[in-house]
Amino acid sequence: MPSIAITGMQFGDEGKGKVTDFLAEKADLVVRYSGGNNAGHTVMTRGKKYKFHLIPSGAIRGKKCCIAAGVALDPRVLVSEIENIEKERAIKLVIDPRAHLVMPYHNQLDTAEEKGAGKNKIGTTGRGIGPCYADRAARIGFRFEELLNEKVFREKLAQVLPLKKKILENVYSVTLDAGVEDICKEYLALAEKLRGYCGDVSAEVNNAIKAGKTVLFEGAQGTFLDNDFGTYPFVTSSHPITGSIFTGVGIGASNAELGKVIGIAKAYTTRVGEGFFPTEVEGKPAEILRKRGSEFGTTTARPRRIGWLDIPMLKTSARLNGITEIALTKLDVLEVVDKIKVCVSYSCNGKTLKELPANTFDFQQCKPNYIEFDGFSAKAGMTKFEQLSESAQKYINFIEKETGLPIKFISIGPNREDTILR
Ligand code: GDP
Ligand code: IMO
Ligand code: MG
Repeated sequence: MPSIAITGMQFGDEGKGKVTDFLAEKADLVVRYSGGNNAGHTVMTRGKKYKFHLIPSGAIRGKKCCIAAGVALDPRVLVSEIENIEKERAIKLVIDPRAHLVMPYHNQLDTAEEKGAGKNKIGTTGRGIGPCYADRAARIGFRFEELLNEKVFREKLAQVLPLKKKILENVYSVTLDAGVEDICKEYLALAEKLRGYCGDVSAEVNNAIKAGKTVLFEGAQGTFLDNDFGTYPFVTSSHPITGSIFTGVGIGASNAELGKVIGIAKAYTTRVGEGFFPTEVEGKPAEILRKRGSEFGTTTARPRRIGWLDIPMLKTSARLNGITEIALTKLDVLEVVDKIKVCVSYSCNGKTLKELPANTFDFQQCKPNYIEFDGFSAKAGMTKFEQLSESAQKYINFIEKETGLPIKFISIGPNREDTILR
Protein backbone atom coordinates (compact mmCIF):
# COMPACT_ATOMS: atom_id res chain seq x y z
CA MET A 1 0.00 0.00 0.00
CA PRO A 2 1.33 3.50 -0.72
CA SER A 3 2.48 5.74 2.10
CA ILE A 4 0.27 8.19 3.94
CA ALA A 5 1.08 11.66 5.25
CA ILE A 6 -0.86 13.17 8.14
CA THR A 7 -0.70 16.89 8.64
CA GLY A 8 -2.48 19.52 10.74
CA MET A 9 -4.46 22.00 8.63
CA GLN A 10 -4.89 24.69 11.29
CA PHE A 11 -2.82 25.78 14.33
CA GLY A 12 -2.04 22.34 15.77
CA ASP A 13 -4.00 20.07 18.13
CA GLU A 14 -6.38 19.02 15.36
CA GLY A 15 -6.32 15.38 16.45
CA LYS A 16 -3.31 14.12 14.48
CA GLY A 17 -2.51 11.61 17.23
CA LYS A 18 -5.97 10.06 17.10
CA VAL A 19 -5.93 9.72 13.31
CA THR A 20 -2.36 8.37 13.27
CA ASP A 21 -3.23 5.72 15.85
CA PHE A 22 -6.33 4.76 13.88
CA LEU A 23 -4.45 4.36 10.60
CA ALA A 24 -1.42 2.74 12.22
CA GLU A 25 -3.32 -0.53 12.31
CA LYS A 26 -2.52 -1.01 8.62
CA ALA A 27 0.93 0.61 8.62
CA ASP A 28 4.34 -1.04 8.81
CA LEU A 29 6.28 2.00 9.94
CA VAL A 30 5.19 5.22 11.68
CA VAL A 31 7.54 8.19 11.36
CA ARG A 32 7.79 11.58 13.11
CA TYR A 33 9.58 13.98 10.76
CA SER A 34 9.53 17.42 12.39
CA GLY A 35 9.04 19.39 15.59
CA GLY A 36 9.90 18.22 19.06
CA ASN A 37 8.20 17.77 22.39
CA ASN A 38 6.36 21.03 21.87
CA ALA A 39 3.90 18.57 20.28
CA GLY A 40 1.40 16.75 22.43
CA HIS A 41 -0.57 14.01 20.72
CA THR A 42 -3.36 12.25 22.58
CA VAL A 43 -4.62 8.80 21.76
CA MET A 44 -7.55 7.15 23.50
CA THR A 45 -8.87 3.68 23.16
CA ARG A 46 -11.69 2.27 25.24
CA GLY A 47 -11.27 5.12 27.70
CA LYS A 48 -7.53 4.65 28.22
CA LYS A 49 -5.50 7.75 27.45
CA TYR A 50 -1.93 7.95 26.08
CA LYS A 51 0.00 11.17 25.54
CA PHE A 52 2.91 11.32 23.14
CA HIS A 53 5.36 14.17 22.67
CA LEU A 54 8.13 12.57 20.63
CA ILE A 55 7.29 8.96 20.01
CA PRO A 56 4.98 8.42 17.03
CA SER A 57 1.40 7.57 17.96
CA GLY A 58 1.73 4.16 16.28
CA ALA A 59 3.65 2.89 19.31
CA ILE A 60 0.66 1.62 21.26
CA ARG A 61 -0.19 -0.71 18.40
CA GLY A 62 3.33 -2.13 18.63
CA LYS A 63 4.34 -0.74 15.24
CA LYS A 64 7.92 0.06 14.38
CA CYS A 65 8.42 3.79 14.99
CA CYS A 66 11.04 6.20 13.67
CA ILE A 67 12.22 9.58 14.88
CA ALA A 68 13.75 11.21 11.84
CA ALA A 69 16.60 13.69 11.40
CA GLY A 70 14.24 16.70 11.32
CA VAL A 71 12.99 16.18 14.87
CA ALA A 72 14.24 18.26 17.81
CA LEU A 73 15.02 15.54 20.31
CA ASP A 74 14.93 16.06 24.07
CA PRO A 75 16.54 12.89 25.45
CA ARG A 76 15.06 13.53 28.92
CA VAL A 77 11.54 13.46 27.55
CA LEU A 78 12.21 10.61 25.14
CA VAL A 79 13.58 8.27 27.81
CA SER A 80 10.62 8.89 30.09
CA GLU A 81 8.23 8.28 27.18
CA ILE A 82 9.98 5.01 26.29
CA GLU A 83 9.82 3.88 29.92
CA ASN A 84 6.10 4.64 30.05
CA ILE A 85 5.34 2.64 26.93
CA GLU A 86 7.54 -0.22 28.08
CA LYS A 87 5.32 -0.66 31.12
CA GLU A 88 2.80 -2.08 28.64
CA ARG A 89 4.77 -3.43 25.71
CA ALA A 90 8.17 -3.58 24.07
CA ILE A 91 8.94 -0.67 21.80
CA LYS A 92 10.45 -0.91 18.31
CA LEU A 93 12.15 2.41 17.75
CA VAL A 94 14.76 3.84 15.38
CA ILE A 95 16.27 7.27 16.05
CA ASP A 96 18.26 9.01 13.34
CA PRO A 97 21.81 10.01 14.41
CA ARG A 98 21.31 13.38 12.71
CA ALA A 99 18.40 14.50 14.93
CA HIS A 100 19.31 17.57 16.99
CA LEU A 101 19.25 17.53 20.77
CA VAL A 102 17.36 19.91 22.97
CA MET A 103 19.88 20.90 25.66
CA PRO A 104 19.04 22.28 29.12
CA TYR A 105 20.21 25.76 28.11
CA HIS A 106 17.73 25.73 25.22
CA ASN A 107 14.89 25.60 27.75
CA GLN A 108 16.43 28.45 29.70
CA LEU A 109 16.93 30.53 26.56
CA ASP A 110 13.37 29.87 25.40
CA THR A 111 11.97 31.14 28.69
CA ALA A 112 14.36 34.10 28.83
CA GLU A 113 13.64 35.16 25.24
CA GLU A 114 9.91 35.05 25.90
CA LYS A 115 10.25 37.09 29.06
CA GLY A 116 12.51 39.56 27.28
CA ALA A 117 10.00 39.99 24.45
CA GLY A 118 7.36 41.27 26.90
CA LYS A 119 4.12 42.02 25.08
CA ASN A 120 5.63 40.73 21.82
CA LYS A 121 6.15 37.23 23.18
CA ILE A 122 5.25 34.27 20.97
CA GLY A 123 3.64 32.18 23.69
CA THR A 124 5.98 29.24 23.08
CA THR A 125 5.66 25.94 24.87
CA GLY A 126 8.93 26.69 26.69
CA ARG A 127 10.39 23.38 25.55
CA GLY A 128 13.53 24.91 24.02
CA ILE A 129 12.50 24.09 20.48
CA GLY A 130 13.23 27.51 18.92
CA PRO A 131 16.76 27.75 20.43
CA CYS A 132 17.48 24.13 19.40
CA TYR A 133 16.61 24.74 15.74
CA ALA A 134 18.43 28.11 15.85
CA ASP A 135 21.61 26.28 16.95
CA ARG A 136 21.12 23.73 14.19
CA ALA A 137 21.04 26.54 11.61
CA ALA A 138 23.99 28.26 13.31
CA ARG A 139 25.89 24.95 13.21
CA ILE A 140 26.54 24.83 16.93
CA GLY A 141 23.86 22.29 17.74
CA PHE A 142 24.39 18.79 19.11
CA ARG A 143 23.26 15.83 17.06
CA PHE A 144 22.13 12.54 18.56
CA GLU A 145 25.29 10.91 17.19
CA GLU A 146 27.36 13.30 19.32
CA LEU A 147 25.50 12.27 22.45
CA LEU A 148 26.68 8.74 21.76
CA ASN A 149 30.34 9.81 21.69
CA GLU A 150 31.38 10.93 25.17
CA LYS A 151 34.67 12.56 24.16
CA VAL A 152 33.12 14.61 21.37
CA PHE A 153 30.11 15.56 23.51
CA ARG A 154 32.22 16.69 26.46
CA GLU A 155 34.69 18.70 24.37
CA LYS A 156 32.05 20.42 22.29
CA LEU A 157 30.00 21.26 25.37
CA ALA A 158 33.04 22.88 26.95
CA GLN A 159 33.23 25.07 23.84
CA VAL A 160 29.53 25.93 23.40
CA LEU A 161 28.40 26.33 27.00
CA PRO A 162 30.46 29.48 27.80
CA LEU A 163 28.75 31.19 24.85
CA LYS A 164 25.32 30.27 26.14
CA LYS A 165 26.30 31.37 29.65
CA LYS A 166 27.35 34.77 28.32
CA ILE A 167 24.08 35.26 26.48
CA LEU A 168 21.97 34.16 29.42
CA GLU A 169 23.86 36.28 31.93
CA ASN A 170 24.70 39.37 29.92
CA VAL A 171 21.58 39.68 27.78
CA TYR A 172 18.90 38.23 30.04
CA SER A 173 20.45 38.41 33.53
CA VAL A 174 19.74 34.74 34.03
CA THR A 175 22.12 32.32 35.75
CA LEU A 176 22.99 29.20 33.80
CA ASP A 177 21.34 26.25 35.55
CA ALA A 178 23.67 23.44 34.58
CA GLY A 179 27.43 23.40 33.93
CA VAL A 180 29.44 21.00 31.75
CA GLU A 181 29.66 18.32 34.43
CA ASP A 182 25.96 18.53 35.34
CA ILE A 183 24.91 18.18 31.71
CA CYS A 184 27.41 15.40 31.00
CA LYS A 185 26.23 13.46 34.02
CA GLU A 186 22.58 13.67 33.06
CA TYR A 187 22.90 13.38 29.27
CA LEU A 188 25.56 10.66 29.08
CA ALA A 189 23.43 8.48 31.33
CA LEU A 190 20.48 9.05 28.97
CA ALA A 191 22.76 8.21 26.03
CA GLU A 192 23.22 4.69 27.37
CA LYS A 193 19.45 4.21 27.46
CA LEU A 194 19.08 5.41 23.87
CA ARG A 195 22.20 4.01 22.18
CA GLY A 196 20.54 0.81 21.02
CA TYR A 197 17.88 2.71 19.06
CA CYS A 198 20.27 4.65 16.81
CA GLY A 199 19.82 3.89 13.13
CA ASP A 200 19.62 5.50 9.69
CA VAL A 201 15.95 6.47 9.42
CA SER A 202 16.40 7.73 5.87
CA ALA A 203 17.64 4.31 4.74
CA GLU A 204 15.02 2.52 6.86
CA VAL A 205 12.13 4.47 5.34
CA ASN A 206 13.43 4.35 1.76
CA ASN A 207 13.95 0.60 2.02
CA ALA A 208 10.51 0.06 3.51
CA ILE A 209 8.89 1.99 0.67
CA LYS A 210 10.89 0.10 -1.94
CA ALA A 211 9.76 -3.16 -0.37
CA GLY A 212 6.13 -2.05 -0.83
CA LYS A 213 5.48 -1.43 2.87
CA THR A 214 3.13 1.24 4.18
CA VAL A 215 4.78 4.16 5.90
CA LEU A 216 2.71 6.60 7.93
CA PHE A 217 4.27 10.05 8.32
CA GLU A 218 2.90 11.72 11.44
CA GLY A 219 3.02 15.50 11.30
CA ALA A 220 3.44 17.70 14.34
CA GLN A 221 2.03 21.21 14.90
CA GLY A 222 -0.13 22.70 12.15
CA THR A 223 0.20 24.46 8.80
CA PHE A 224 -0.21 27.98 10.20
CA LEU A 225 2.57 27.41 12.73
CA ASP A 226 4.97 26.74 9.84
CA ASN A 227 8.12 28.84 10.06
CA ASP A 228 7.70 30.09 6.47
CA PHE A 229 4.00 29.76 5.68
CA GLY A 230 2.43 30.30 9.09
CA THR A 231 1.48 33.53 10.84
CA TYR A 232 5.10 34.62 11.28
CA PRO A 233 6.53 35.46 13.82
CA PHE A 234 3.85 33.64 15.84
CA VAL A 235 4.96 30.27 14.57
CA THR A 236 7.18 27.41 15.58
CA SER A 237 10.76 27.02 14.37
CA SER A 238 10.24 24.00 12.12
CA HIS A 239 8.09 23.14 9.12
CA PRO A 240 4.88 21.30 9.92
CA ILE A 241 3.85 21.25 6.24
CA THR A 242 4.29 18.02 4.29
CA GLY A 243 7.23 19.40 2.29
CA SER A 244 9.38 18.78 5.34
CA ILE A 245 8.80 15.04 5.09
CA PHE A 246 11.44 15.06 2.37
CA THR A 247 14.03 17.13 4.22
CA GLY A 248 13.14 15.81 7.67
CA VAL A 249 13.36 12.13 6.81
CA GLY A 250 15.84 12.21 3.93
CA ILE A 251 13.64 10.91 1.18
CA GLY A 252 13.40 11.99 -2.44
CA ALA A 253 10.17 13.69 -3.56
CA SER A 254 9.66 11.04 -6.23
CA ASN A 255 10.53 8.19 -3.86
CA ALA A 256 7.94 8.90 -1.17
CA GLU A 257 5.08 7.01 -2.90
CA LEU A 258 2.61 9.19 -1.05
CA GLY A 259 -0.75 7.67 -1.85
CA LYS A 260 -2.69 9.96 0.44
CA VAL A 261 -2.01 13.26 2.16
CA ILE A 262 -4.60 13.50 4.90
CA GLY A 263 -5.25 16.95 6.30
CA ILE A 264 -6.55 16.88 9.85
CA ALA A 265 -9.03 19.66 10.55
CA LYS A 266 -10.98 20.30 13.71
CA ALA A 267 -14.65 21.09 13.05
CA TYR A 268 -13.90 24.52 14.57
CA THR A 269 -10.51 26.17 15.16
CA THR A 270 -8.22 26.45 18.19
CA ARG A 271 -4.89 28.10 18.81
CA VAL A 272 -2.49 28.12 21.78
CA GLY A 273 -0.07 30.98 22.19
CA GLU A 274 -0.14 34.44 20.63
CA GLY A 275 -0.80 35.47 17.04
CA PHE A 276 -3.49 36.56 14.61
CA PHE A 277 -6.63 34.42 14.68
CA PRO A 278 -9.35 35.89 12.41
CA THR A 279 -12.28 33.70 13.52
CA GLU A 280 -11.51 33.85 17.25
CA VAL A 281 -14.54 33.88 19.56
CA GLU A 282 -14.40 35.22 23.06
CA GLY A 283 -16.68 35.14 26.10
CA LYS A 284 -19.38 32.60 26.80
CA PRO A 285 -19.49 30.67 23.45
CA ALA A 286 -15.72 30.16 23.64
CA GLU A 287 -15.98 28.96 27.22
CA ILE A 288 -18.71 26.47 26.36
CA LEU A 289 -16.75 24.99 23.45
CA ARG A 290 -13.48 24.95 25.43
CA LYS A 291 -15.14 23.02 28.24
CA ARG A 292 -16.96 20.53 26.02
CA GLY A 293 -13.89 19.99 23.82
CA SER A 294 -11.44 19.88 26.78
CA GLU A 295 -9.45 22.50 24.93
CA PHE A 296 -6.45 22.70 27.23
CA GLY A 297 -2.97 22.04 25.84
CA THR A 298 -1.66 18.45 25.99
CA THR A 299 1.87 19.78 26.55
CA THR A 300 1.40 22.90 28.68
CA ALA A 301 -2.23 22.65 29.91
CA ARG A 302 -2.81 26.23 28.73
CA PRO A 303 -6.42 27.02 27.75
CA ARG A 304 -6.66 26.95 23.95
CA ARG A 305 -8.14 29.98 22.19
CA ILE A 306 -11.33 29.07 20.34
CA GLY A 307 -12.69 30.15 16.96
CA TRP A 308 -15.06 29.10 14.19
CA LEU A 309 -14.05 26.95 11.24
CA ASP A 310 -12.10 28.97 8.70
CA ILE A 311 -12.54 27.75 5.10
CA PRO A 312 -9.92 30.11 3.55
CA MET A 313 -7.45 28.62 6.02
CA LEU A 314 -8.35 25.07 4.97
CA LYS A 315 -8.08 25.94 1.29
CA THR A 316 -4.68 27.54 1.76
CA SER A 317 -3.55 24.57 3.79
CA ALA A 318 -4.76 22.18 1.08
CA ARG A 319 -2.55 24.02 -1.41
CA LEU A 320 0.51 24.21 0.86
CA ASN A 321 0.38 20.52 1.78
CA GLY A 322 -1.07 18.92 -1.35
CA ILE A 323 -3.91 17.46 0.69
CA THR A 324 -5.95 14.73 -0.96
CA GLU A 325 -8.61 14.23 1.73
CA ILE A 326 -9.71 15.67 5.05
CA ALA A 327 -10.18 13.96 8.39
CA LEU A 328 -12.67 16.12 10.31
CA THR A 329 -12.35 15.84 14.09
CA LYS A 330 -14.29 16.91 17.16
CA LEU A 331 -17.58 17.25 15.32
CA ASP A 332 -19.34 16.11 18.51
CA VAL A 333 -18.10 19.19 20.38
CA LEU A 334 -20.24 21.50 18.22
CA GLU A 335 -23.35 19.86 19.72
CA VAL A 336 -23.22 22.32 22.60
CA VAL A 337 -24.00 25.39 20.46
CA ASP A 338 -27.32 26.29 18.83
CA LYS A 339 -25.84 28.14 15.89
CA ILE A 340 -22.54 27.35 14.22
CA LYS A 341 -20.65 29.90 12.17
CA VAL A 342 -18.27 29.15 9.33
CA CYS A 343 -15.96 31.71 7.75
CA VAL A 344 -16.26 31.40 3.97
CA SER A 345 -14.13 34.34 2.88
CA TYR A 346 -12.31 37.40 4.19
CA SER A 347 -12.95 41.05 3.46
CA CYS A 348 -9.56 42.67 3.10
CA ASN A 349 -8.80 46.21 1.94
CA GLY A 350 -11.95 46.35 -0.18
CA LYS A 351 -11.49 42.88 -1.69
CA THR A 352 -13.07 39.51 -0.97
CA LEU A 353 -10.46 36.79 -0.49
CA LYS A 354 -11.07 33.04 -0.63
CA GLU A 355 -7.59 32.14 0.64
CA LEU A 356 -5.08 33.70 3.03
CA PRO A 357 -3.06 36.56 1.57
CA ALA A 358 0.70 35.94 1.43
CA ASN A 359 1.41 39.28 3.06
CA THR A 360 1.14 39.33 6.87
CA PHE A 361 0.06 42.97 6.97
CA ASP A 362 -2.83 42.19 4.60
CA PHE A 363 -3.72 39.12 6.65
CA GLN A 364 -4.00 41.25 9.77
CA GLN A 365 -6.59 43.39 7.97
CA CYS A 366 -8.76 40.39 7.09
CA LYS A 367 -12.27 40.33 8.52
CA PRO A 368 -14.12 37.02 8.31
CA ASN A 369 -17.39 36.71 6.38
CA TYR A 370 -19.59 34.09 8.00
CA ILE A 371 -22.51 31.92 7.13
CA GLU A 372 -24.51 30.19 9.83
CA PHE A 373 -25.58 26.59 10.33
CA ASP A 374 -28.17 25.16 12.70
CA GLY A 375 -26.89 23.20 15.67
CA PHE A 376 -26.72 19.47 15.29
CA SER A 377 -26.34 16.05 16.80
CA ALA A 378 -23.15 14.02 16.33
CA LYS A 379 -22.39 11.62 19.13
CA ALA A 380 -19.93 8.92 20.05
CA GLY A 381 -21.66 5.65 19.28
CA MET A 382 -22.82 6.71 15.82
CA THR A 383 -21.10 4.54 13.24
CA LYS A 384 -22.56 5.73 9.93
CA PHE A 385 -22.68 9.09 8.21
CA GLU A 386 -26.44 8.68 7.84
CA GLN A 387 -26.84 8.54 11.64
CA LEU A 388 -25.58 12.11 11.98
CA SER A 389 -28.41 14.64 12.10
CA GLU A 390 -29.34 16.24 8.78
CA SER A 391 -27.75 19.55 9.75
CA ALA A 392 -24.47 17.79 10.66
CA GLN A 393 -24.46 16.09 7.26
CA LYS A 394 -25.13 19.46 5.67
CA TYR A 395 -22.14 20.94 7.53
CA ILE A 396 -19.83 18.18 6.26
CA ASN A 397 -21.12 18.35 2.70
CA PHE A 398 -20.61 22.10 2.75
CA ILE A 399 -16.95 21.81 3.84
CA GLU A 400 -16.35 19.25 1.10
CA LYS A 401 -17.89 21.51 -1.52
CA GLU A 402 -15.98 24.61 -0.41
CA THR A 403 -12.59 22.90 -0.13
CA GLY A 404 -13.07 20.56 -3.08
CA LEU A 405 -11.78 17.71 -0.89
CA PRO A 406 -13.55 14.58 0.33
CA ILE A 407 -14.02 14.09 4.07
CA LYS A 408 -13.42 10.39 4.53
CA PHE A 409 -12.84 10.27 8.27
CA ILE A 410 -15.23 11.86 10.76
CA SER A 411 -14.27 11.86 14.43
CA ILE A 412 -17.07 12.12 16.97
CA GLY A 413 -15.22 11.45 20.21
CA PRO A 414 -11.70 11.07 21.56
CA ASN A 415 -11.63 7.27 21.48
CA ARG A 416 -10.28 5.29 18.55
CA GLU A 417 -13.70 3.68 18.36
CA ASP A 418 -15.55 7.02 17.93
CA THR A 419 -14.87 7.24 14.23
CA ILE A 420 -17.02 7.21 11.10
CA LEU A 421 -15.36 6.19 7.85
CA ARG A 422 -16.88 7.04 4.49
P1 GDP B 1 -2.86 16.60 18.10
O1 GDP B 1 -1.79 17.41 18.70
O2 GDP B 1 -3.25 17.06 16.72
O3 GDP B 1 -2.59 15.13 18.13
O4 GDP B 1 -4.15 16.84 19.01
P2 GDP B 1 -4.20 16.81 20.63
O5 GDP B 1 -4.10 15.43 21.08
O6 GDP B 1 -3.23 17.81 21.18
O7 GDP B 1 -5.62 17.45 20.88
C1 GDP B 1 -6.79 16.84 20.45
C2 GDP B 1 -7.63 16.51 21.67
O8 GDP B 1 -8.95 16.20 21.28
C3 GDP B 1 -7.16 15.29 22.44
O9 GDP B 1 -7.45 15.45 23.80
C4 GDP B 1 -8.00 14.15 21.82
O10 GDP B 1 -8.19 13.06 22.73
C5 GDP B 1 -9.29 14.86 21.59
N1 GDP B 1 -10.08 14.38 20.43
C6 GDP B 1 -9.61 13.95 19.23
N2 GDP B 1 -10.66 13.71 18.40
C7 GDP B 1 -11.78 14.02 19.09
C8 GDP B 1 -13.16 14.04 18.76
O11 GDP B 1 -13.58 13.72 17.67
N3 GDP B 1 -14.03 14.44 19.73
C9 GDP B 1 -13.61 14.83 20.97
N4 GDP B 1 -14.53 15.22 21.84
N5 GDP B 1 -12.31 14.84 21.30
C10 GDP B 1 -11.40 14.45 20.38
P1 IMO C 1 0.80 19.55 18.22
O1 IMO C 1 1.71 18.62 17.46
C1 IMO C 1 -0.43 23.59 19.22
C2 IMO C 1 2.69 26.64 19.31
C3 IMO C 1 2.97 27.27 20.67
C4 IMO C 1 3.36 28.67 20.21
C5 IMO C 1 4.15 28.42 18.94
C6 IMO C 1 5.66 28.38 19.13
O2 IMO C 1 0.35 19.01 19.52
O3 IMO C 1 -0.30 20.01 17.33
P2 IMO C 1 7.27 26.56 20.21
O4 IMO C 1 7.30 25.95 21.58
O5 IMO C 1 7.07 25.59 19.11
O6 IMO C 1 8.43 27.47 19.94
O7 IMO C 1 5.98 27.53 20.23
O8 IMO C 1 3.71 27.16 18.45
N1 IMO C 1 2.79 25.17 19.27
C7 IMO C 1 1.71 24.36 19.23
N2 IMO C 1 0.41 24.64 19.31
N3 IMO C 1 -0.02 22.32 19.03
C8 IMO C 1 1.28 22.04 18.92
O9 IMO C 1 1.74 20.80 18.59
C9 IMO C 1 2.23 23.07 19.06
N4 IMO C 1 3.59 23.14 19.02
C10 IMO C 1 3.90 24.41 19.13
O10 IMO C 1 1.83 27.27 21.48
O11 IMO C 1 2.22 29.40 19.86
MG1 MG D 1 -1.41 18.56 20.43
